[in-house]
Amino acid sequence: MSRGAPGALEPAFQALMHEIAKTHGFRCDAYKEGCIRRRIGVRMRARAVHSYDAYAALLRRDPAESQRLLDALTIHVSRFYRNPETWELIATAVLPELWRGRAGALRCWSAGCAAGEEPYTLAILLLEQARREGSPTPPAIIDATDYDGASLERAAQGSYPRAAIKDLPARLTRRYFQGQDPVVLAPEVRRLIRRGRHDLTREPPPAAPYDLVLCRNVVIYFETRTQERIASLLTDALAPGGYLVLGKVETIRGEARARLVLQNPRERIYRRR
Ligand SMILES: C[S@@+](CC[C@H](N)C(=O)[O-])C[C@H]1O[C@@H](n2cnc3c(N)ncnc32)[C@H](O)[C@@H]1O
Repeated sequence: MSRGAPGALEPAFQALMHEIAKTHGFRCDAYKEGCIRRRIGVRMRARAVHSYDAYAALLRRDPAESQRLLDALTIHVSRFYRNPETWELIATAVLPELWRGRAGALRCWSAGCAAGEEPYTLAILLLEQARREGSPTPPAIIDATDYDGASLERAAQGSYPRAAIKDLPARLTRRYFQGQDPVVLAPEVRRLIRRGRHDLTREPPPAAPYDLVLCRNVVIYFETRTQERIASLLTDALAPGGYLVLGKVETIRGEARARLVLQNPRERIYRRR
């Protein structure tokens, strides 16, 4: 695909990004360009379309394709207890300490929550912490937000293919899920979640300050300046002493570095000064 001046985008690609922004309010320019091109390329191949112009025309006449493209652009691969070592540290070190400080009334945010696998995992660990404390229901709230409305609807259903819980320890599966395939989440887990649509590239945090913010496997898709802005936003969202957990290959960029202490480099757990 040809480009004009170095750094400039060819007009057909620019027009296609404009079309996507107009239809979905999705800001392609905030994401890594290579990532956006690869995902659009996947949809173009699936529809046997060979130019950006032709694909933009297809989007205008086929709303279902437009939705499929949005799905492809907002990759929402996730699962319960993804990266078990991170969750073990959250369960054994982060939650007990936060619990003591706030008598269980924790305010948490899962930003880029996909279909709820991450915030529901956190809810399960909060329920486990409550059991250990001898308190029947944790007085906690988890804001679970994502850009993608379809993912949030799946989160509302609370029903998942069995593969989604393959990393979850068996005792937690037995305690908090029913059924075989799909598996269905217990209502007590669902009650801790407050779902909402939220765009990390342009909206302030939903209900700061938070004691714990999870934003895992999200910022990796954004270009550097947007990563810096999101790092500032996530840090602003934290109460002093609050924890921030990123994905295992993600890092904090920009001015936010000075406001955070990297508490556990391996699990990418930061703490606000
Ligand atoms: C790969 S999933 C990560 C899910 C989960 N956090 C995990 O680690 O398993 C990335 C999620 O980020 C969401 N996302 C992408 N762009 C976003 C934006 N601008 N604002 C909020 N969420 C966004 C996607 O819709 C997707 O659900």
